[in-house]
Amino acid sequence: MTPLDYDRVADAYHRRYVQSPMPGVARALSDLADSHGARRILEVGCGTGRWLESLQAPGRWLAGLDPSRGMLFQARARLPRVPLIQAVAEAPPLAPASFDLIFLVNVLHHLTDPARFFRAARRMLAPGGALALVGADIHAADYAWYIYDYFPGVREMDEARFPSWAQARAWMQEAGFGQISSRVVHVTDVTFVGEEVFGDAFLAKNGTSQLAMVSDDAYRAGIERIRAAIDAHPLALFHTHIEMVMLVGR
Ligand SMILES: C[S@@+](CC[C@H](N)C(=O)[O-])C[C@H]1O[C@@H](n2cnc3c(N)ncnc32)[C@H](O)[C@@H]1O
Repeated sequence: MTPLDYDRVADAYHRRYVQSPMPGVARALSDLADSHGARRILEVGCGTGRWLESLQAPGRWLAGLDPSRGMLFQARARLPRVPLIQAVAEAPPLAPASFDLIFLVNVLHHLTDPARFFRAARRMLAPGGALALVGADIHAADYAWYIYDYFPGVREMDEARFPSWAQARAWMQEAGFGQISSRVVHVTDVTFVGEEVFGDAFLAKNGTSQLAMVSDDAYRAGIERIRAAIDAHPLALFHTHIEMVMLVGR
């Protein structure tokens, strides 16, 4: 599967947080930083800077890393004083034992060599440091995303590229993380009725990696299927239920 070029997505990406800032994720990261007394914090795959922005506080030194120049350009506008590094997670140009907390949100499924990243994360953490992975649990029994019903092949693409949480735990253990815990930190549960669905930021062509990765023709065909469903039933329902899990390793 060809990796997505996030430079193409950067302009549209942040609109999702205007629609839904996912406060549960921000709270969980902030609580983790506090409970851990983390002063030096790195976000890997920091994208447009949504989470670093909410973690800014006196006494915390933050940094972001991301390979996409376009995403970092967006982050820079939000975080004028935070060091932002253009690099991949698997080869971070950062010194050993530099951070108390490293975290990733919705990034694991983009890594080409996750095991290598976990070893690099272990090295970059100071003794007692924590690594937190946050992401959608697409394998959960009650996971629902109406996009899958209208864009054929997207569900299969996600099932192939999203590692299970059991796999993520195994990579963490192999890299030397002993204590691993997990919990649900945010649930998106929303139902759009009829035409409302066209206001969903996640339905935009470049609003998510899933729809950015389908061809323009396939995207148009999916939108036409949604349009046909609304023409047939003006109050057609478009439902999303996504749990965001946080896995923490020490
Ligand atoms: C879904 S976005 C998440 C951005 C941000 N964490 C958030 O939650 O808003 C995925 C991000 O991972 C970055 N990414 C892709 N491949 C990566 C890699 N190998 N190492 C680090 N980041 C990567 C992309 O450039 C993109 O910014």
